[in-house]
Amino acid sequence: MRRFLLLILTPGLILCAQTLRQAGAQRALLMGAAADSSEQNPDPLATDALYASTLGTQYNMLEAENNMKWGTIHPQQNTYNFAPGDELVTFAQAHQMQTRGHNLCWGSYNPSWIVNYATTATPAQMSSQLQNHITAVVTHYKGQVFAWDVVNEAISDSQTGSGTVMKNSIWYNQPGIGLTGTGYVEQALRWAHAADPNALLFYNEYNIEAPGAKFNAMMVMLKDFVSRGVPIHGVGIQMHITTSGYPSSAGLAQNIQAITALGLQVHITEMDVRIPVDSSGVAAASDLQAQAATYQRILTVCLQNPGCTAFQTWGFTDKHSWIPNSYPGYGAALPFDATYQAKPAVASMINALQAVPPVLNAANIVNAASYAGGAVAPGELATIFQANFGPGTLAGTQLDSSGDVSSNLSGTQVFFDGVAAPVIYALAGQVSVVVPYEVSGQQQTVVQYSYNGVMSNSVTVPVVASVPGIFSANASGTGPGAILNLDYTLNSASNRVAGGGVVVGFATGGGTVQGGAKDGAPASGVALQTLPVSATVGGMPATVGYAGLAPGLVDGVMQLNLTVPTGVTGAQPLVVTVGAVSSQSGITVAVK
Ligand code: G3I
Repeated sequence: MRRFLLLILTPGLILCAQTLRQAGAQRALLMGAAADSSEQNPDPLATDALYASTLGTQYNMLEAENNMKWGTIHPQQNTYNFAPGDELVTFAQAHQMQTRGHNLCWGSYNPSWIVNYATTATPAQMSSQLQNHITAVVTHYKGQVFAWDVVNEAISDSQTGSGTVMKNSIWYNQPGIGLTGTGYVEQALRWAHAADPNALLFYNEYNIEAPGAKFNAMMVMLKDFVSRGVPIHGVGIQMHITTSGYPSSAGLAQNIQAITALGLQVHITEMDVRIPVDSSGVAAASDLQAQAATYQRILTVCLQNPGCTAFQTWGFTDKHSWIPNSYPGYGAALPFDATYQAKPAVASMINALQAVPPVLNAANIVNAASYAGGAVAPGELATIFQANFGPGTLAGTQLDSSGDVSSNLSGTQVFFDGVAAPVIYALAGQVSVVVPYEVSGQQQTVVQYSYNGVMSNSVTVPVVASVPGIFSANASGTGPGAILNLDYTLNSASNRVAGGGVVVGFATGGGTVQGGAKDGAPASGVALQTLPVSATVGGMPATVGYAGLAPGLVDGVMQLNLTVPTGVTGAQPLVVTVGAVSSQSGITVAVK
């Protein structure tokens, strides 16, 4: 039973620290790099051991710089060349990395066959070409590519200030696929979603790093898409910059917040910081320092805005970078030099990853069973999401010298009015604690989060007497409850309880118990909830034989012994009321 309850209390995962990858894992942030493979000759991934080892150890995400673009993956009308992309995906899987896809629809760098085809094709013909391509590529990488830049750089650099002016392209108006305005972007997103409903779909763009007309034009499109339920999950901000100070931290933060306010994620997708180099590609030490400061500054803004969920550079070594060919006199734009030595930028990014304070948001403090937020109760097991600073590998419950649940788990602490709460488990993006009983009787509590001593902002959360939530068997907060039949087997559709039978359910948020409880202590015996507890199954009263501490489990877990009423069968809704507050809807118990 104890192992079963630990299972439902602690979902599981990942990695540990000191490379960009490991420091990023401690921020629940994907640290990525664009990479090449066999479309390059020679293939760096296959022939350059340092290229492969640096990529595989320093990053937990990679993106195809070129080999998932039309030019490489669809070189002829009836020919797909998935090999270069497959090679990258295989490498990523072998190194427990995520693969990001780029891109399914772009007005530039398309293979000559489709450019020529477009000169005589009808919009309907172009539409089926684009649909076929997106469907073929997304289907091929279904379940392997977690996020796609579906459309890249479609919005014009010169805007009128109203609406969204699109760039001329074979997909828009030359001849286009028969849709006006942002229609082809929407259509591409819909086709990609149909091919892989689980893939995250992004619109990727440059010159949107700071507030301005292009950013506003993009926001018009995004707001329209979100309002009409067009399948889009995020925006890729490219970030090809210099050390000029563009974008300002405030401006970038403003843009990220505007995008995340729509419920969309932000990925920094193509960052590089080009600096002056001499004829042999060597940069001045002062420029390398300015570059390091720029990488640190941009990463800091990403870390300060929890909706920014990935930070990627456009390559990782100066040995392979598009900059020198595109910006004569500039180069050395990436974190590792041409011999794969870490440049000052690597240390500066790790500094940011280790020092930027976690961000605590009151709305992300929720009941560990129901995920309902808004207030806490004494002794409630609460989960804190998106503080995004903690162990990169799941840290499970540890007991302190007095046998109680420790209030400092692998460097993770959560304070309620300065009282350190017992920490059940900790992971960078998700931490579960027991709200100290000391908050009892207060109107509110001031909560602060810290990791390795780096303190977050503090937030004020209302305190209530009870906020019951019933644990579900799959930790989703809904569906079959975490309920045992009297023979200690899990109640389920295939293992039901008879009407009139007794089940044992587990919940939290019941508030104080008679005789008091101790923060973090495993319940040594039974103790009844202070407030009256009632329950219904299928809307019918269920006798509460016991409602109180769960012997052997941390004070705060509420055990419920209930007699299931007769006259109901099947999956029946179970609701528990403590005082005047009822548990979440959607939890069921299976009755014969
Ligand atoms: O693969 C061919 C190779 O077979 C041939 O020998 C060689 C010589 O011409 O060309 C190779 O193709 C090159 C391809 O990169 C692969 O290296 C293309 O000519 C070259 O134009 C292409 O440049 C890429 C460019 O996008 C166009 O696709 C750059 O490497 C890549 O860094 C750049 O990335 C873009 C992003 O996709 C979108 N945002 C801006 C960013 C920089 O322009």
